[in-house]
Amino acid sequence: MSRLIVVSNRTPGKGPAAGGLAVALRKTLAEREGFWFGWSGDLVETPSSEARFQDIDGLSVAQIDLTRDDHHAYYAGFSNSILWPSFHLRLDLATIEAHWYEGYRSVNVQFARALLPLLRPDDVIWVHDYHLIPLATELRNLGARNRIGFYLHIPFPTPDALYAIPHHQELMRDLSRYDLVGMQANRDVSAFTEFSEHQSPSSLSGSPLKSVDFSRTEVAAFPIGSDPDAFARLSVSAAATKMVKRMERSLHGQNLILGVDRLDYSKGLPQRVEAYEKLLANDGRFRRQVHLLQVAPPSRDTIKEYQETSDTLDAICGRVMGRFAEPDWQPLTYVKRAYGQPSLAGLYRLARVGLVTPLRDGMNLVAHEYVGSQNPADPGVLVLSRFAGAAEIFEDAVLVNPFDTDETGEALRMALDMPLDERIARWQSLMAAARRHNVDDWSRSFIDRLAPSTSGDGTSTRDILYLASVA
Ligand code: G6P
Repeated sequence: MSRLIVVSNRTPGKGPAAGGLAVALRKTLAEREGFWFGWSGDLVETPSSEARFQDIDGLSVAQIDLTRDDHHAYYAGFSNSILWPSFHLRLDLATIEAHWYEGYRSVNVQFARALLPLLRPDDVIWVHDYHLIPLATELRNLGARNRIGFYLHIPFPTPDALYAIPHHQELMRDLSRYDLVGMQANRDVSAFTEFSEHQSPSSLSGSPLKSVDFSRTEVAAFPIGSDPDAFARLSVSAAATKMVKRMERSLHGQNLILGVDRLDYSKGLPQRVEAYEKLLANDGRFRRQVHLLQVAPPSRDTIKEYQETSDTLDAICGRVMGRFAEPDWQPLTYVKRAYGQPSLAGLYRLARVGLVTPLRDGMNLVAHEYVGSQNPADPGVLVLSRFAGAAEIFEDAVLVNPFDTDETGEALRMALDMPLDERIARWQSLMAAARRHNVDDWSRSFIDRLAPSTSGDGTSTRDILYLASVA
Protein backbone atom coordinates (compact mmCIF):
# COMPACT_ATOMS: atom_id res chain seq x y z
CA MET A 1 0.00 0.00 0.00
CA SER A 2 1.33 3.45 -0.85
CA ARG A 3 2.35 5.80 1.96
CA LEU A 4 0.24 8.77 2.98
CA ILE A 5 1.87 12.16 3.46
CA VAL A 6 -0.31 14.67 5.29
CA VAL A 7 0.64 18.33 4.90
CA SER A 8 -0.76 21.24 6.91
CA ASN A 9 0.45 24.55 8.29
CA ARG A 10 0.33 23.36 11.90
CA THR A 11 1.37 19.83 12.83
CA PRO A 12 -0.17 17.93 15.75
CA GLY A 13 1.31 18.64 19.15
CA LYS A 14 2.13 16.32 22.02
CA GLY A 15 -0.41 15.23 24.60
CA PRO A 16 -4.12 14.46 24.93
CA ALA A 17 -5.37 17.87 23.76
CA ALA A 18 -4.99 16.80 20.09
CA GLY A 19 -8.02 17.71 17.97
CA GLY A 20 -10.28 15.24 16.16
CA LEU A 21 -8.52 15.73 12.85
CA ALA A 22 -5.13 14.84 14.34
CA VAL A 23 -6.59 11.76 16.00
CA ALA A 24 -8.29 10.57 12.79
CA LEU A 25 -5.30 11.15 10.56
CA ARG A 26 -2.99 9.60 13.13
CA LYS A 27 -5.02 6.38 12.79
CA THR A 28 -4.92 6.56 9.00
CA LEU A 29 -1.18 7.22 9.05
CA ALA A 30 -0.66 4.20 11.32
CA GLU A 31 -2.54 1.98 8.84
CA ARG A 32 -0.79 3.21 5.69
CA GLU A 33 2.58 4.46 6.93
CA GLY A 34 3.83 7.89 6.03
CA PHE A 35 4.34 11.10 7.93
CA TRP A 36 2.89 14.53 8.69
CA PHE A 37 4.68 17.55 7.25
CA GLY A 38 4.33 21.20 8.28
CA TRP A 39 5.70 24.27 9.99
CA SER A 40 7.60 23.67 13.24
CA GLY A 41 6.16 26.72 15.01
CA ASP A 42 9.70 28.22 15.13
CA LEU A 43 10.78 31.48 13.53
CA VAL A 44 14.50 31.70 12.77
CA GLU A 45 16.83 34.01 10.83
CA THR A 46 18.15 31.42 8.38
CA PRO A 47 15.93 28.37 8.10
CA SER A 48 17.46 25.12 6.92
CA SER A 49 16.05 23.89 3.62
CA GLU A 50 15.82 20.38 5.08
CA ALA A 51 12.96 19.15 7.24
CA ARG A 52 13.62 17.71 10.72
CA PHE A 53 11.85 14.52 11.69
CA GLN A 54 10.59 13.84 15.18
CA ASP A 55 8.36 11.33 16.83
CA ILE A 56 5.29 12.92 18.41
CA ASP A 57 3.45 10.32 20.49
CA GLY A 58 4.22 7.61 17.91
CA LEU A 59 3.49 9.82 14.91
CA SER A 60 6.28 10.66 12.48
CA VAL A 61 6.34 14.43 11.93
CA ALA A 62 8.64 16.37 9.56
CA GLN A 63 8.90 20.10 10.15
CA ILE A 64 10.55 23.18 8.72
CA ASP A 65 11.22 26.57 10.29
CA LEU A 66 10.33 29.89 8.67
CA THR A 67 11.68 33.43 8.88
CA ARG A 68 9.62 35.95 10.82
CA ASP A 69 8.98 38.08 7.69
CA ASP A 70 7.91 35.15 5.52
CA HIS A 71 5.67 33.82 8.24
CA HIS A 72 4.04 37.21 8.78
CA ALA A 73 3.23 37.67 5.09
CA TYR A 74 2.09 34.07 4.68
CA TYR A 75 0.12 33.50 7.91
CA ALA A 76 -1.11 36.77 9.48
CA GLY A 77 -1.04 38.48 6.08
CA PHE A 78 -2.26 36.60 3.03
CA SER A 79 -3.80 33.58 4.78
CA ASN A 80 -5.59 35.26 7.67
CA SER A 81 -6.11 38.87 6.60
CA ILE A 82 -7.09 38.14 2.99
CA LEU A 83 -8.12 34.52 2.41
CA TRP A 84 -9.84 33.88 5.76
CA PRO A 85 -12.12 36.97 5.73
CA SER A 86 -12.88 36.64 2.00
CA PHE A 87 -13.71 32.95 2.23
CA HIS A 88 -16.02 33.80 5.15
CA LEU A 89 -17.64 36.60 3.08
CA ARG A 90 -16.27 39.32 5.38
CA LEU A 91 -14.60 41.57 2.82
CA ASP A 92 -15.26 44.45 5.22
CA LEU A 93 -12.72 42.84 7.58
CA ALA A 94 -10.14 41.98 4.93
CA THR A 95 -6.91 43.93 4.63
CA ILE A 96 -5.97 43.71 1.00
CA GLU A 97 -2.21 44.12 0.83
CA ALA A 98 -1.33 42.32 -2.37
CA HIS A 99 2.41 42.23 -1.56
CA TRP A 100 1.72 39.53 1.08
CA TYR A 101 1.12 37.19 -1.83
CA GLU A 102 4.88 36.98 -2.41
CA GLY A 103 5.50 35.68 1.11
CA TYR A 104 2.56 33.28 0.81
CA ARG A 105 3.95 31.83 -2.41
CA SER A 106 7.48 31.77 -1.08
CA VAL A 107 6.47 29.71 1.97
CA ASN A 108 4.64 27.28 -0.31
CA VAL A 109 7.84 26.99 -2.39
CA GLN A 110 9.82 26.31 0.81
CA PHE A 111 7.32 23.62 1.81
CA ALA A 112 7.61 22.01 -1.65
CA ARG A 113 11.43 22.12 -1.71
CA ALA A 114 11.73 20.54 1.73
CA LEU A 115 9.06 17.94 1.04
CA LEU A 116 10.15 16.78 -2.42
CA PRO A 117 13.34 14.91 -1.36
CA LEU A 118 11.29 12.97 1.22
CA LEU A 119 8.81 11.65 -1.34
CA ARG A 120 8.62 8.26 -3.02
CA PRO A 121 7.00 8.05 -6.46
CA ASP A 122 3.88 6.26 -5.21
CA ASP A 123 3.29 8.36 -2.09
CA VAL A 124 -0.18 9.86 -1.84
CA ILE A 125 -0.11 13.47 -0.64
CA TRP A 126 -2.99 15.06 1.23
CA VAL A 127 -2.69 18.84 1.68
CA HIS A 128 -4.90 20.64 4.21
CA ASP A 129 -6.38 24.10 4.16
CA TYR A 130 -6.15 27.56 2.70
CA HIS A 131 -2.57 28.26 3.77
CA LEU A 132 -1.29 25.78 1.19
CA ILE A 133 -3.40 26.22 -1.97
CA PRO A 134 -0.30 26.62 -4.22
CA LEU A 135 1.52 23.56 -2.87
CA ALA A 136 0.54 21.14 -5.66
CA THR A 137 1.72 23.62 -8.31
CA GLU A 138 5.04 24.06 -6.55
CA LEU A 139 5.53 20.32 -6.09
CA ARG A 140 4.63 19.65 -9.72
CA ASN A 141 7.02 22.41 -10.88
CA LEU A 142 9.75 20.46 -9.09
CA GLY A 143 8.75 17.26 -10.88
CA ALA A 144 6.39 15.49 -8.45
CA ARG A 145 3.95 13.20 -10.28
CA ASN A 146 2.22 11.85 -7.18
CA ARG A 147 -1.50 11.87 -6.57
CA ILE A 148 -2.12 15.07 -4.62
CA GLY A 149 -5.36 15.95 -2.87
CA PHE A 150 -6.45 19.15 -1.17
CA TYR A 151 -9.03 19.55 1.57
CA LEU A 152 -10.50 22.92 2.48
CA HIS A 153 -11.52 23.15 6.14
CA ILE A 154 -13.34 26.47 5.70
CA PRO A 155 -16.21 27.53 3.41
CA PHE A 156 -15.54 28.22 -0.26
CA PRO A 157 -16.41 31.83 -1.19
CA THR A 158 -19.01 33.05 -3.64
CA PRO A 159 -17.52 34.30 -6.95
CA ASP A 160 -17.75 37.98 -5.95
CA ALA A 161 -15.74 37.44 -2.78
CA LEU A 162 -13.26 35.37 -4.75
CA TYR A 163 -12.75 38.17 -7.28
CA ALA A 164 -11.74 40.48 -4.40
CA ILE A 165 -8.74 38.29 -3.58
CA PRO A 166 -5.51 39.42 -5.23
CA HIS A 167 -4.21 36.78 -7.65
CA HIS A 168 -7.42 34.75 -7.37
CA GLN A 169 -7.01 33.45 -10.91
CA GLU A 170 -3.60 31.97 -10.06
CA LEU A 171 -5.00 30.47 -6.87
CA MET A 172 -7.76 28.79 -8.84
CA ARG A 173 -5.19 27.53 -11.31
CA ASP A 174 -3.30 26.15 -8.29
CA LEU A 175 -6.43 24.25 -7.25
CA SER A 176 -6.65 22.79 -10.74
CA ARG A 177 -3.23 21.17 -10.21
CA TYR A 178 -4.68 18.86 -7.56
CA ASP A 179 -6.20 15.52 -8.50
CA LEU A 180 -8.94 15.88 -5.91
CA VAL A 181 -10.28 18.91 -4.08
CA GLY A 182 -12.49 18.20 -1.06
CA MET A 183 -14.89 20.72 0.39
CA GLN A 184 -16.92 20.81 3.60
CA ALA A 185 -20.45 21.01 2.26
CA ASN A 186 -22.54 20.90 -0.92
CA ARG A 187 -22.94 24.65 -0.55
CA ASP A 188 -19.16 25.01 -1.09
CA VAL A 189 -19.11 22.76 -4.14
CA SER A 190 -21.95 24.84 -5.64
CA ALA A 191 -19.98 28.07 -5.04
CA PHE A 192 -16.93 26.49 -6.67
CA THR A 193 -18.95 25.26 -9.64
CA GLU A 194 -20.49 28.69 -10.08
CA PHE A 195 -17.00 30.18 -10.27
CA SER A 196 -15.54 27.55 -12.57
CA GLU A 197 -18.48 27.70 -14.99
CA HIS A 198 -18.69 31.49 -15.18
CA GLN A 199 -15.12 32.66 -14.77
CA SER A 200 -14.84 36.29 -15.71
CA PRO A 201 -11.55 37.70 -16.94
CA SER A 202 -9.12 39.35 -14.56
CA SER A 203 -10.01 43.01 -14.05
CA LEU A 204 -6.48 44.42 -14.11
CA SER A 205 -4.41 43.34 -17.07
CA GLY A 206 -5.28 44.50 -20.56
CA SER A 207 -5.06 40.94 -21.85
CA PRO A 208 -7.51 38.83 -19.85
CA LEU A 209 -6.06 35.69 -18.32
CA LYS A 210 -7.15 32.43 -19.84
CA SER A 211 -9.82 30.71 -17.80
CA VAL A 212 -8.78 27.84 -15.60
CA ASP A 213 -9.20 24.27 -16.81
CA PHE A 214 -10.60 22.02 -14.07
CA SER A 215 -11.16 19.01 -16.33
CA ARG A 216 -8.48 16.92 -14.57
CA THR A 217 -9.53 17.86 -11.04
CA GLU A 218 -12.35 16.19 -9.21
CA VAL A 219 -14.19 18.47 -6.77
CA ALA A 220 -16.59 16.99 -4.24
CA ALA A 221 -18.03 17.52 -0.77
CA PHE A 222 -16.56 15.38 2.00
CA PRO A 223 -18.40 16.57 5.13
CA ILE A 224 -15.94 16.14 7.98
CA GLY A 225 -17.21 14.86 11.33
CA SER A 226 -15.89 13.86 14.74
CA ASP A 227 -15.91 10.57 16.63
CA PRO A 228 -19.25 10.89 18.46
CA ASP A 229 -18.90 7.58 20.30
CA ALA A 230 -15.47 8.58 21.59
CA PHE A 231 -17.07 11.79 22.90
CA ALA A 232 -19.84 9.74 24.52
CA ARG A 233 -17.18 7.80 26.44
CA LEU A 234 -15.10 10.87 27.19
CA SER A 235 -18.11 12.75 28.58
CA VAL A 236 -18.41 10.27 31.46
CA SER A 237 -14.66 9.87 32.05
CA ALA A 238 -13.09 10.83 35.38
CA ALA A 239 -11.62 14.05 33.95
CA ALA A 240 -14.98 15.08 32.49
CA THR A 241 -16.81 14.30 35.71
CA LYS A 242 -14.38 16.45 37.65
CA MET A 243 -15.23 19.43 35.44
CA VAL A 244 -18.97 18.65 35.66
CA LYS A 245 -18.83 18.62 39.46
CA ARG A 246 -17.00 21.96 39.50
CA MET A 247 -19.55 23.53 37.19
CA GLU A 248 -22.55 22.02 38.98
CA ARG A 249 -21.40 23.56 42.24
CA SER A 250 -21.63 27.01 40.72
CA LEU A 251 -24.84 26.40 38.73
CA HIS A 252 -27.09 25.63 41.73
CA GLY A 253 -29.53 23.79 39.45
CA GLN A 254 -29.71 26.45 36.73
CA ASN A 255 -29.82 25.31 33.10
CA LEU A 256 -26.50 25.72 31.33
CA ILE A 257 -26.28 27.23 27.84
CA LEU A 258 -22.82 26.56 26.40
CA GLY A 259 -20.79 28.07 23.57
CA VAL A 260 -17.28 26.89 22.68
CA ASP A 261 -15.47 28.72 19.89
CA ARG A 262 -12.12 30.17 18.93
CA LEU A 263 -12.36 33.93 19.45
CA ASP A 264 -12.96 34.67 15.78
CA TYR A 265 -15.32 37.15 14.10
CA SER A 266 -16.76 34.36 11.96
CA LYS A 267 -18.23 32.73 15.06
CA GLY A 268 -20.90 35.38 15.69
CA LEU A 269 -20.09 35.74 19.38
CA PRO A 270 -21.40 39.31 19.93
CA GLN A 271 -24.68 38.40 18.18
CA ARG A 272 -24.94 35.28 20.34
CA VAL A 273 -24.61 37.21 23.60
CA GLU A 274 -27.10 39.75 22.29
CA ALA A 275 -29.59 36.93 21.59
CA TYR A 276 -29.10 35.72 25.17
CA GLU A 277 -29.68 39.27 26.39
CA LYS A 278 -33.00 39.28 24.50
CA LEU A 279 -34.00 35.98 26.09
CA LEU A 280 -33.47 37.47 29.55
CA ALA A 281 -35.14 40.75 28.62
CA ASN A 282 -38.21 39.17 26.98
CA ASP A 283 -38.94 36.39 29.43
CA GLY A 284 -38.39 37.13 33.13
CA ARG A 285 -38.88 33.41 33.93
CA PHE A 286 -35.34 32.69 32.86
CA ARG A 287 -33.56 35.12 35.14
CA ARG A 288 -31.80 33.17 37.90
CA GLN A 289 -32.78 29.97 36.03
CA VAL A 290 -30.18 29.90 33.24
CA HIS A 291 -26.51 30.58 32.85
CA LEU A 292 -24.52 31.16 29.67
CA LEU A 293 -20.95 29.84 29.64
CA GLN A 294 -18.96 31.04 26.65
CA VAL A 295 -15.54 29.46 26.26
CA ALA A 296 -13.52 31.46 23.71
CA PRO A 297 -9.77 30.84 23.54
CA PRO A 298 -7.96 33.80 21.91
CA SER A 299 -6.86 33.28 18.34
CA ARG A 300 -4.63 35.16 15.84
CA ASP A 301 -4.47 38.02 18.30
CA THR A 302 -1.79 39.95 16.43
CA ILE A 303 -4.43 40.80 13.83
CA LYS A 304 -6.40 44.00 14.47
CA GLU A 305 -9.82 42.58 13.50
CA TYR A 306 -9.40 39.81 16.08
CA GLN A 307 -8.47 42.30 18.80
CA GLU A 308 -11.55 44.34 17.89
CA THR A 309 -13.82 41.29 18.06
CA SER A 310 -12.40 40.55 21.48
CA ASP A 311 -13.06 44.15 22.62
CA THR A 312 -16.63 44.06 21.26
CA LEU A 313 -17.34 40.83 23.08
CA ASP A 314 -15.90 42.22 26.32
CA ALA A 315 -18.22 45.21 26.01
CA ILE A 316 -21.36 43.17 25.28
CA CYS A 317 -20.69 40.70 28.08
CA GLY A 318 -20.11 43.64 30.44
CA ARG A 319 -23.37 45.22 29.30
CA VAL A 320 -25.39 42.06 29.93
CA MET A 321 -23.76 41.60 33.32
CA GLY A 322 -24.48 45.19 34.30
CA ARG A 323 -28.07 44.91 33.12
CA PHE A 324 -29.06 41.59 34.70
CA ALA A 325 -26.55 40.51 37.35
CA GLU A 326 -27.52 40.69 41.00
CA PRO A 327 -25.28 40.40 44.05
CA ASP A 328 -26.03 36.67 44.24
CA TRP A 329 -26.61 35.84 40.52
CA GLN A 330 -24.58 36.25 37.37
CA PRO A 331 -26.18 35.64 33.99
CA LEU A 332 -23.01 34.58 32.22
CA THR A 333 -19.42 33.47 32.46
CA TYR A 334 -17.02 34.31 29.69
CA VAL A 335 -13.73 32.38 29.71
CA LYS A 336 -10.91 33.37 27.37
CA ARG A 337 -8.88 30.20 27.55
CA ALA A 338 -8.74 26.73 26.01
CA TYR A 339 -9.78 23.50 27.75
CA GLY A 340 -8.79 19.94 26.89
CA GLN A 341 -11.28 17.61 25.24
CA PRO A 342 -12.20 15.69 28.44
CA SER A 343 -13.26 18.88 30.25
CA LEU A 344 -15.17 20.08 27.21
CA ALA A 345 -16.93 16.72 26.83
CA GLY A 346 -18.12 17.01 30.44
CA LEU A 347 -19.38 20.56 29.87
CA TYR A 348 -21.15 19.53 26.65
CA ARG A 349 -22.95 16.76 28.53
CA LEU A 350 -24.01 19.09 31.30
CA ALA A 351 -25.31 21.80 28.97
CA ARG A 352 -29.05 21.87 28.33
CA VAL A 353 -28.35 23.94 25.20
CA GLY A 354 -25.35 23.79 22.87
CA LEU A 355 -25.23 27.17 21.17
CA VAL A 356 -23.33 26.99 17.87
CA THR A 357 -24.16 30.12 15.90
CA PRO A 358 -21.33 31.11 13.52
CA LEU A 359 -22.13 33.71 10.88
CA ARG A 360 -20.44 31.46 8.34
CA ASP A 361 -18.45 28.35 9.04
CA GLY A 362 -17.07 25.11 7.67
CA MET A 363 -18.65 21.99 9.15
CA ASN A 364 -18.13 23.10 12.78
CA LEU A 365 -16.97 20.19 14.88
CA VAL A 366 -18.21 21.66 18.18
CA ALA A 367 -21.74 20.81 16.98
CA HIS A 368 -20.67 17.17 16.42
CA GLU A 369 -18.86 16.96 19.74
CA TYR A 370 -21.86 18.39 21.61
CA VAL A 371 -24.17 15.79 20.05
CA GLY A 372 -21.75 12.94 20.83
CA SER A 373 -21.46 13.95 24.49
CA GLN A 374 -25.17 13.98 25.38
CA ASN A 375 -26.82 11.72 27.94
CA PRO A 376 -29.22 9.59 25.80
CA ALA A 377 -31.82 9.59 28.59
CA ASP A 378 -31.75 13.37 29.09
CA PRO A 379 -30.11 15.03 26.11
CA GLY A 380 -29.65 18.75 25.55
CA VAL A 381 -30.72 20.72 22.47
CA LEU A 382 -28.42 21.88 19.68
CA VAL A 383 -29.16 25.43 18.51
CA LEU A 384 -27.28 25.68 15.24
CA SER A 385 -26.60 28.38 12.67
CA ARG A 386 -27.99 27.61 9.25
CA PHE A 387 -24.71 29.02 7.88
CA ALA A 388 -22.55 26.29 9.43
CA GLY A 389 -21.82 23.34 7.14
CA ALA A 390 -23.25 21.09 9.87
CA ALA A 391 -26.72 22.49 9.10
CA GLU A 392 -26.71 20.32 5.95
CA ILE A 393 -26.62 17.14 8.02
CA PHE A 394 -28.20 18.13 11.37
CA GLU A 395 -31.78 18.72 10.25
CA ASP A 396 -33.13 18.11 13.74
CA ALA A 397 -31.12 20.84 15.39
CA VAL A 398 -32.99 24.07 16.10
CA LEU A 399 -31.71 26.00 13.09
CA VAL A 400 -31.34 29.78 13.34
CA ASN A 401 -30.24 32.78 11.34
CA PRO A 402 -27.44 34.04 13.63
CA PHE A 403 -27.75 37.60 12.29
CA ASP A 404 -31.31 37.69 13.62
CA THR A 405 -30.84 37.93 17.38
CA ASP A 406 -34.62 37.92 18.00
CA GLU A 407 -34.86 34.57 16.24
CA THR A 408 -31.88 33.14 18.15
CA GLY A 409 -33.33 34.44 21.44
CA GLU A 410 -36.62 32.72 20.63
CA ALA A 411 -34.76 29.50 19.68
CA LEU A 412 -33.10 29.59 23.10
CA ARG A 413 -36.49 29.90 24.76
CA MET A 414 -37.83 27.01 22.72
CA ALA A 415 -34.79 24.85 23.53
CA LEU A 416 -35.06 25.57 27.26
CA ASP A 417 -38.79 24.79 27.28
CA MET A 418 -38.50 21.69 25.08
CA PRO A 419 -40.13 18.59 26.63
CA LEU A 420 -37.99 15.52 27.24
CA ASP A 421 -39.59 13.32 24.55
CA GLU A 422 -38.89 15.91 21.85
CA ARG A 423 -35.32 16.39 23.09
CA ILE A 424 -34.75 12.64 22.91
CA ALA A 425 -36.27 12.30 19.43
CA ARG A 426 -34.22 15.19 18.06
CA TRP A 427 -31.03 13.97 19.69
CA GLN A 428 -31.44 10.42 18.35
CA SER A 429 -31.67 11.80 14.84
CA LEU A 430 -28.65 14.08 15.39
CA MET A 431 -26.57 11.25 16.85
CA ALA A 432 -27.41 9.00 13.89
CA ALA A 433 -26.26 11.78 11.54
CA ALA A 434 -23.06 12.36 13.57
CA ARG A 435 -22.29 8.63 13.38
CA ARG A 436 -22.95 8.54 9.61
CA HIS A 437 -20.47 11.40 9.16
CA ASN A 438 -17.77 10.22 11.54
CA VAL A 439 -14.21 11.35 11.00
CA ASP A 440 -12.78 7.89 10.27
CA ASP A 441 -15.14 7.36 7.35
CA TRP A 442 -14.39 10.89 6.22
CA SER A 443 -10.63 10.32 5.94
CA ARG A 444 -11.10 6.86 4.42
CA SER A 445 -13.50 8.12 1.76
CA PHE A 446 -11.21 11.01 0.80
CA ILE A 447 -8.15 8.79 0.47
CA ASP A 448 -10.04 6.07 -1.42
CA ARG A 449 -11.21 8.68 -3.88
CA LEU A 450 -7.76 10.25 -4.18
CA ALA A 451 -5.84 7.02 -4.58
CA PRO A 452 -8.14 4.25 -5.76
CA SER A 453 -6.21 0.95 -5.72
CA THR A 454 -2.66 1.86 -6.62
CA SER A 455 -1.07 -0.90 -8.69
CA GLY A 456 2.09 -1.15 -6.62
CA ASP A 457 4.52 0.22 -9.24
CA GLY A 458 3.56 3.82 -8.66
CA THR A 459 1.11 3.84 -11.54
CA SER A 460 -2.44 4.69 -10.59
CA THR A 461 -5.49 3.23 -12.28
CA ARG A 462 -6.11 6.66 -13.78
CA ASP A 463 -2.63 6.64 -15.39
CA ILE A 464 -3.26 3.14 -16.71
CA LEU A 465 -6.52 4.24 -18.32
CA TYR A 466 -4.75 7.24 -19.81
CA LEU A 467 -1.83 5.15 -21.14
CA ALA A 468 -4.32 2.67 -22.60
CA SER A 469 -6.20 5.41 -24.41
CA VAL A 470 -3.07 6.91 -26.03
CA ALA A 471 -1.43 3.55 -26.81
C1 G6P B 1 -9.44 26.77 11.47
C2 G6P B 1 -8.60 26.42 10.25
C3 G6P B 1 -7.39 25.58 10.64
C4 G6P B 1 -6.62 26.29 11.74
C5 G6P B 1 -7.53 26.56 12.93
C6 G6P B 1 -6.82 27.32 14.06
O1 G6P B 1 -10.06 25.64 11.95
O2 G6P B 1 -9.39 25.73 9.30
O3 G6P B 1 -6.55 25.39 9.52
O4 G6P B 1 -5.49 25.54 12.13
O5 G6P B 1 -8.63 27.34 12.49
O6 G6P B 1 -6.30 28.53 13.58
P1 G6P B 1 -4.76 28.89 13.65
O7 G6P B 1 -4.62 30.15 12.86
O8 G6P B 1 -4.49 29.07 15.11
O9 G6P B 1 -3.99 27.73 13.07
